[in-house]
Amino acid sequence: MNSLLAGLDIGTSSVTCVAAEPLSDGGVRIVGAGQAQIDGAVREGVLLDVAQTVQAIRRAVSEAALLCTDDIRSVFLSVSGSHVRGFEGIGTVSVEKPDSDSPHEITGEDVARAEEAARLVRLPQGARVLDIVKRDYCVDGFDRIRRPPIGLIAEQISARIYTVMADRLAVSNFESAAESAGLSIEGIVPAALASGAAVLTGDEMDMGVVLADIGGGTTDVAVFRNGTLAHLGVVPLGGNSITSDLQALRVPWDQAEKLKTEWAVASSDLVDPNQSTRVARLGGRGTFTVSHSVVSQVVGQRAEEIFEAVAQEIARSGIDYVDLPGGLILTGGTSRLRGIVELAGRIVGMPTDVGVPTGFETSTDLVLSPEFATAVGLVITGRERREAAGDDREGLLSGFFRWISGIAGRLR
Ligand SMILES: Nc1ncnc2c1ncn2[C@@H]1O[C@H](COP(=O)(O)OP(=O)(O)OP(=O)(O)O)[C@@H](O)[C@H]1O
Ligand SMILES: [Mg+2]
Repeated sequence: MNSLLAGLDIGTSSVTCVAAEPLSDGGVRIVGAGQAQIDGAVREGVLLDVAQTVQAIRRAVSEAALLCTDDIRSVFLSVSGSHVRGFEGIGTVSVEKPDSDSPHEITGEDVARAEEAARLVRLPQGARVLDIVKRDYCVDGFDRIRRPPIGLIAEQISARIYTVMADRLAVSNFESAAESAGLSIEGIVPAALASGAAVLTGDEMDMGVVLADIGGGTTDVAVFRNGTLAHLGVVPLGGNSITSDLQALRVPWDQAEKLKTEWAVASSDLVDPNQSTRVARLGGRGTFTVSHSVVSQVVGQRAEEIFEAVAQEIARSGIDYVDLPGGLILTGGTSRLRGIVELAGRIVGMPTDVGVPTGFETSTDLVLSPEFATAVGLVITGRERREAAGDDREGLLSGFFRWISGIAGRLR
């Protein structure tokens, strides 16, 4: 494995790839990016057309590799879809020593036992664990302690863990498509988590914030609080459902897409009722004039449905709006829809903004757009995962050396 980090996001509308070099300060410098359109190969996070996807992966990866000094051989891969779910687990253990009644100091072992107990959520059949987020700890009634409370004198410790799972077969299909394109898989990251890493700041995640990545086929929702993921959900609707609604005006897909991206306004109070545009009718049957308020009404209705589902996901997290002062941050291609910020703010009832990838160095401006949020987030998360794995290895090594020097000391 070379040091180059690569993120591969196989979305409903396109495959995007980002390549980055790790920087010594813990950040990344993006050195390449590529995008290849796909059509109908992925639906709601499930792969349906392997050949088309493999071809698009090859194109996106070779475009991203153009200016890289190393080859892209391994990738961090995103997954999305209704099959991606998170479960909270709480594990409580007693800190007392078995031979004494008095409380004693919490050790790393106690923390590990509590985490292990929290991890024992029953895995649904056919599920694969993608991520285990250590959320926080509770010691004798004092909750929301961020770091392992080692050294505190206490009677009980609880650990809260959030386990993210996905359908094993759905994930395997994406992995094998990437492998068929000549890549090995370095890690799998839920799309919402990756997008959050790219567009949110650490402060926002600490204070509490909601991210909605509205793509072509899915809207990935992630709620962050206390610096970690608190809830993850996927709404099986995105920009493609808006385009397909517009087709009811009897226009072909490309005309509906043009109406959406060039003329539609999601929030009806921002529409100019006097404006209209000419479009081609389905089947080459001439052209006709459609008013912008009709287009915007169709678009607004579907967008409302998407944000009602986003609001339900936020409610499912069980976190009160006052604990989410960062509001709602939109990203993904559909966040470009005009008037979407106003509409989302009204439906969800939160201050809303659009988020573009930020917080890294880059030699290409291509990645500074909302469609690249997931792929950019993959290299940022990938960097963190490599570092965490390195820390574990270092921990193991130093443990090993302590053990050897212990033996050497005893032999002396
Ligand atoms: N200017 C625009 N206005 C409205 N929608 C837009 C605009 N530009 C792109 N889109 C929409 O964004 C969507 C694609 O976004 P994105 O590239 O984030 O999706 P994806 O990641 O491939 O899909 P998914 O995440 O759902 O699997 C399409 O539905 C496209 O029509
Ligand atoms: Mg996407």
